[in-house]
Amino acid sequence: MDFLLEASGIGISFPGVRALDGVNFRLRRGEIHALMGQNGAGKSTLLKILSGVYRPDEGRVSLSGRAVRFASPTEAQRAGISTVHQELNLIPTLSVAENLFLGIQPSAAGFLNWKKMNRDAEGVLSRLNLKIDVTEQLSSFSVAVQQIVAIARSRLFSADVLILDEPTSSLDKEEAANLFEVMRNLKSDGLGIIFVTHFLEQMYEISDRATILRNGELVGEFNVKHLSRIDLITAMVGEEGSARRTEEKFERGRREEEAGDGGTFLEASGVARFGAVEPFNLSLRRGEVLGLAGLLGSGRSEMARLIFGIDGLDQGKIKVDGTALRPSSPRDSIAAGMGFCPEDRKTDGVIGSLSVRENIILALQANRGIFRMLGRQEQEDITDKFIEALSIKTPGGEQAVRNLSGGNQQKVIIARWLASNLKLLILDEPTRGIDIAAKAEIQKLILSLADQGLAVLFISSELDEVARCCERVAVMRDRRKVGELTGDDVGVESIMRSIALGREECA
Ligand SMILES: Nc1ncnc2c1ncn2[C@@H]1O[C@H](COP(=O)(O)OP(=O)(O)OP(=O)(O)O)[C@@H](O)[C@H]1O
Ligand SMILES: [Mg+2]
Repeated sequence: MDFLLEASGIGISFPGVRALDGVNFRLRRGEIHALMGQNGAGKSTLLKILSGVYRPDEGRVSLSGRAVRFASPTEAQRAGISTVHQELNLIPTLSVAENLFLGIQPSAAGFLNWKKMNRDAEGVLSRLNLKIDVTEQLSSFSVAVQQIVAIARSRLFSADVLILDEPTSSLDKEEAANLFEVMRNLKSDGLGIIFVTHFLEQMYEISDRATILRNGELVGEFNVKHLSRIDLITAMVGEEGSARRTEEKFERGRREEEAGDGGTFLEASGVARFGAVEPFNLSLRRGEVLGLAGLLGSGRSEMARLIFGIDGLDQGKIKVDGTALRPSSPRDSIAAGMGFCPEDRKTDGVIGSLSVRENIILALQANRGIFRMLGRQEQEDITDKFIEALSIKTPGGEQAVRNLSGGNQQKVIIARWLASNLKLLILDEPTRGIDIAAKAEIQKLILSLADQGLAVLFISSELDEVARCCERVAVMRDRRKVGELTGDDVGVESIMRSIALGREECA
């Protein structure tokens, strides 16, 4: 009775997939409620039902005790449910103020009142502690700022319910803290907030209660204070899964014994791009997993882009297999056996209309050239192998990738690069947005490919993952390489110390 939003017996199917089955969900006023579960568990689907994007096959939704049936997201928004989806649905080329008032412009006698709109926009944002020029194009601001703009829209609709689907997946620590501040403020205003994240720590930090889904079914509703980490993980992964997968440990012995002794594959010396990365040296041996650690914005991705030849060098040399690559370009890099899985996979990676199979074999096929086409059977075997290895949740290899959940789309891209039969692979945040069990699978696959001679440059913000997978770690700070750790020195603590205190290396 005293629930702000209540859904019961929710069921929905897509061709070949029972996405939700008999799910109940209850949100109170003034609470932050985490919706947790593995990739493909049904989180986004449930949120899309609550926000009027999908209509459920079964079940009922009520808002403040009254049954509702939304015919569209606009209707849900008018009723007081505001949503910030996994993919921000703002228009980057419009100004901040225009985005805020999209569809609800304050007009005077039919004319758009720009002055008033801009003034109102400033007011709304400043109440969320954001002081920016609202006439600037939205795309000129960071994702963090864009997100707050999306949230601010909910204030304009005087929403009671705010839905945030993985809002923090591309924010750094400070930006996430800032967002949490905003969320706490809205909560104290009485909003009910639904929050999806794959970062367990964040769930503990910000949420009051949690609902856990597994395979489209409700596992339970918990008070976060009384939910232990083990219980949480078991609830998400399932009894069998948790024993089999997440407990798996990597042998650290590998680091000393087999640490890539196949000779140097890549050597960058004195490489720099003015304003982007200060001069650095970096070498990578065959069979080695080299970590690249540092805070978001420390220059990690910029370094990777220089090495792969996406951005031009202003100075320095890159040698691959003993031969100089210069001026380097992605085409030369690819010809030399290098691959790059970028951070922004949403825009750079998946081709939604192609099938899982077509997406996975793309790089491998491109690598072999059109005269050595992979046979259909071979393609299917590779696809099945990766669906299994990374637990990609799909009815099969022929499913269009756009129908997969956000995290499973990412796994497809990772699979594409892992399958591509390269000599050097650059992975930029390969496990972001991916659930804990699959993370471990991806890490294991990377190590086993390294055992077969692949050199990997592994970029990640999660230091325990870097410490676990890498025998050597280069550390970046403020667009500068500030240190390198090897062997026993590689650990979460030591990487953190190096990020904080490391000396600049080769200025
Ligand atoms: N439009 C669609 N067509 C076919 N299948 C779909 C569609 N939307 C979702 N699914 C399937 O429903 C299941 C649940 O997907 P959903 O996006 O809700 O997962 P999720 O919990 O949000 O996962 P993630 O953490 O990866 O974002 C998945 O198996 C997905 O492939
Ligand atoms: Mg999702």
